[in-house]
Amino acid sequence: MHPITVTEHLLLHQKKSPMATGQFTSLLNELILSAKVISREVNKAGLGDILGETGEQNASGDTVKRLDEFAHRILVHRMERAGVLCAMASEEQADVIQIPAKFPKGEYILVMDPLDGSSNIEANVSIGTIFSIYRSQAKDLDRDMDLSDLLQKGSEQVAAGYFIYGSSTVMVYTTGRGVHGFTLDPSVGEFLLSFSDVQTPDQGKIYSVNEAYWHYWDGTTQRVVSAFKDPNSDLGRLYSLRYIGSLVADFHRNLLYGGVFMYPTDYRDPKNPKGKLRLLFEAAPLAKIAEEAGGMATDGVNRILDLDPRELHQRTPLFIGSRRDVQKVKDIYEQGS
Ligand code: AHG
Ligand code: MN
Ligand code: MN
Repeated sequence: MHPITVTEHLLLHQKKSPMATGQFTSLLNELILSAKVISREVNKAGLGDILGETGEQNASGDTVKRLDEFAHRILVHRMERAGVLCAMASEEQADVIQIPAKFPKGEYILVMDPLDGSSNIEANVSIGTIFSIYRSQAKDLDRDMDLSDLLQKGSEQVAAGYFIYGSSTVMVYTTGRGVHGFTLDPSVGEFLLSFSDVQTPDQGKIYSVNEAYWHYWDGTTQRVVSAFKDPNSDLGRLYSLRYIGSLVADFHRNLLYGGVFMYPTDYRDPKNPKGKLRLLFEAAPLAKIAEEAGGMATDGVNRILDLDPRELHQRTPLFIGSRRDVQKVKDIYEQGS
């Protein structure tokens, strides 16, 4: 079968889509180039001085790893001059990233987690880059964008996706017309279509959660997690616990095999009553993909894509994956309330 590149796929299979414009295609190509550079560094990690911590903390208070910083810099450098964006936001930067006046602007806004799962870098565990693309509602694209331009509901995303740097480098994305996966063929340096129109199983056999926080969850959350371990629950099957600690890797496995990933509110850290994961940088893009693949994503009560962000680095509890599994979570929270 003739291998299909991302660009071909975008143009061939989505020509009806308003997203097959030149602007969007070049946005995606610049993102892909950035991911290739990050992938090369991730695959060499340990050979250079790219490992370890920078000694700083990011907007979320996380310790910044050199590779976090590297990925952030590569993406900002490449995307600010691509001529397709009017603003960016990164998990690694507290406020809105403006496009310097010397570069042409476009109508799109890029929101990204440059490197997800960075605590796993030294252990050679899969990590990734998560991205969201919105259209600016601003009339005048030449002015500086402010927070109100970026605080859009997840349902407003025109595209969402991730790169996963693992045994191979894979890109998964959607423009609202199905979820498509591409695998980097290093011999030609191209991402080639590896799975088209992914549909996640309606019910899985995997649940993913960090059970170490059991005593920091409220009673209803404990009942939610217990349901996936209870042989007599109406889920009617035995589940396995799989938790890598890299959201992109856990999400990607569950997308393909079926299952539910959970990061509930926990009471370990009074500063973060809404849990650890970020709405704009992690939950919203993955929720867009999950729904496009026939799955669901909730904070336990509300649809993630309906949440109205108030702050750029706002956290949210996240339950995401196979429809039947996520519905079970919602049912228990509903009974519990
Ligand atoms: P990031 O590296 O971008 O900060 O994300 C890390 C997140 C996510 O990848 C993962 O699911 C979660 O942290 C793991 O958190 P715990 O170690 O608390 O389970
Ligand atoms: Mn992350
Ligand atoms: Mn990150």
